Amino acid sequence: MHVDIITIFPSMFDSVLNSSILKRAVKKGKLRVTVNNLRDYAEDKHNTTDDAPYGGGAGMVMKVEPIAKCLKSIEKKKKGFKILLTPAGKKFDQKMAIKLAKKKNLILVCGHYEGFDERVKDYIDEEVSIGDFVLTGGEVPALVVIDAVVRLLPGVLGNKESAKNESFMADFLDYPHYTRPADYKGKKVPEVLLSGNHKAIAKWRSEEALKLTKEKRPDLLKEKTNI
Ligand code: ADE
Repeated sequence: MHVDIITIFPSMFDSVLNSSILKRAVKKGKLRVTVNNLRDYAEDKHNTTDDAPYGGGAGMVMKVEPIAKCLKSIEKKKKGFKILLTPAGKKFDQKMAIKLAKKKNLILVCGHYEGFDERVKDYIDEEVSIGDFVLTGGEVPALVVIDAVVRLLPGVLGNKESAKNESFMADFLDYPHYTRPADYKGKKVPEVLLSGNHKAIAKWRSEEALKLTKEKRPDLLKEKTNI
């Protein structure tokens, strides 16, 4: 997968893309990332990418021309699925991550200030929000989307089992995990996990996942039965 990011703060991506599984995905050739500096596509000598809102009011608005120009330049080489990170977008979840992991190229547009000129949306395939809160910009949401999507790409995670469970994990919370010691200050690991009985372990895990989901996120189960 090739991911293009459009941002006025390219350095915000340095450390996350150079760490852990994302770094490994790049090394393995499963992921390529291009961070495009939106200022390079500004049309004046001050590299302006934002301007005051028509009609007045507080804050600045991201201009349409630099974004349209940057998208055109990226798509001259290869087409991509264009995402605008905005709190007004469709709520990002595991199902959307699974859908996006099937795309060959993603283009993520990060905004700042009060928002985007409405006409930016004409160049976009999907507006995406990572939750009902307002961040200072789209860079952290873009990293959230990249992280959730890239770990689903075949060959990125070492353990095949992790990817196999993903569609299940979109509907339920994960079951509880334990590692050594089996007894920590009297807090014992459930007996079944030490039994070596894989069938019983699988049963326990799906029961626990369901129990946990009912307890903590009953909304996930409701969503499922609404389909
Ligand atoms: N930009 C600012 N807040 C955001 C959010 N919650 N999701 C996506 N982009 C954003």
